[in-house]
Amino acid sequence: MPLSFPLHANPAPASDDDVARVLADPGFGDYFTDHMSVATWTSDGGWGEAEIKPYGPFLMDPASAVLHYAQEVFEGMKAYRHADGSIHLFRPEANARRFQTSAARLMLPELPTDDFVAAVAELVKADARWVPEASGERSLYLRPFMFASEVFLGVRAAQRVTFSVIASPAGPYFTGGVKPVDIWVTDTYARAGVGGTGAAKCGGNYAASLIAQYEGYEHGCSQVLFIEAADKDRVEELGGMNVFLVTVDSRLVTPALTGTILEGITRDSILAVAADLGLTPEERRITPEELFEGIANGTTVEAFSCGTAAVVTPIGAFKSTKGEWRLPDNGSPQTLALRNAVLDIQYGRVPDTQGWLQRVC
Ligand code: PLP
Ligand code: COI
Repeated sequence: MPLSFPLHANPAPASDDDVARVLADPGFGDYFTDHMSVATWTSDGGWGEAEIKPYGPFLMDPASAVLHYAQEVFEGMKAYRHADGSIHLFRPEANARRFQTSAARLMLPELPTDDFVAAVAELVKADARWVPEASGERSLYLRPFMFASEVFLGVRAAQRVTFSVIASPAGPYFTGGVKPVDIWVTDTYARAGVGGTGAAKCGGNYAASLIAQYEGYEHGCSQVLFIEAADKDRVEELGGMNVFLVTVDSRLVTPALTGTILEGITRDSILAVAADLGLTPEERRITPEELFEGIANGTTVEAFSCGTAAVVTPIGAFKSTKGEWRLPDNGSPQTLALRNAVLDIQYGRVPDTQGWLQRVC
């Protein structure tokens, strides 16, 4: 039976003035809406007890399994307000499918696609006044997540699991907006290995990437690029984004999906629209040498990172212990064209020929 998410309205919602203040300058990840979706799963009864309830803390027993063994997965997606006031999700079924794959890797239960989308859509409907106007790349960031809430210290697949969705008005992820960011290529730390959890969106991957991220900050970089762990012969992805290169002969190159990187929905969308912009997409192995030499010899003319939070952000330079490779200061025309192509679909400024949008209200 499909889950339903009845609304138990917040008796003390934020005032319209407070909402307006937040929406004027939302930042990223700082403010949360009036409600949250919650559903519980048990090994005996399956999914049940679903609702939209006032946003607030979980009451957690100190022995809750997630606090000890990090059995947790999450998603990141956005609701976009169009010029006519309507609100839309972008490819929510793709997030639902990835959530299922992540959950399976962490031995968490499968949440059916319709239930995932209903939990997100009902929350957006309940908190529609928190979805910003389209100006300045604003949207409502949605964070579905699932964790082992069973109270037990044995290491096993949880017998009780909590699923939730929270929502946070969002502006640009990088404080500099679309200005190029510098990327630190770590040769100290790895993000994932073959057979590991690299393709799952689980909190542990992000905890493990922090130390490399901070190594990057020390070198003036805003994100870190990971290289494949064992042979060190493959560029993989950034801590929270996929990576693309644009060559002088209009090829759009990105690391192939090898099971060790996250299968980004923005990545997939960019590959799908590339041909319309005169770019030839290539998913393949990129060696670190090719990355550095391509920039040095002028073959690679642009690079960018992409993801739901970051959208598409040009890369100014790659830095590592071996040197610095700066991309031409050419205004990143192809990167910006791809960025606008995706944003135009998300904000309803062009027809949705791919059927990627789902109207919520
Ligand atoms: N890679 C990592 C590690 C991420 O955290 C993200 C963000 O979700 C992405 C790639 C991009 O994925 P998507 O475009 O689906 O947001
Ligand atoms: C997203 O883009 O949704 C992510 O989860 C990445 C994170 C760095 C915010």
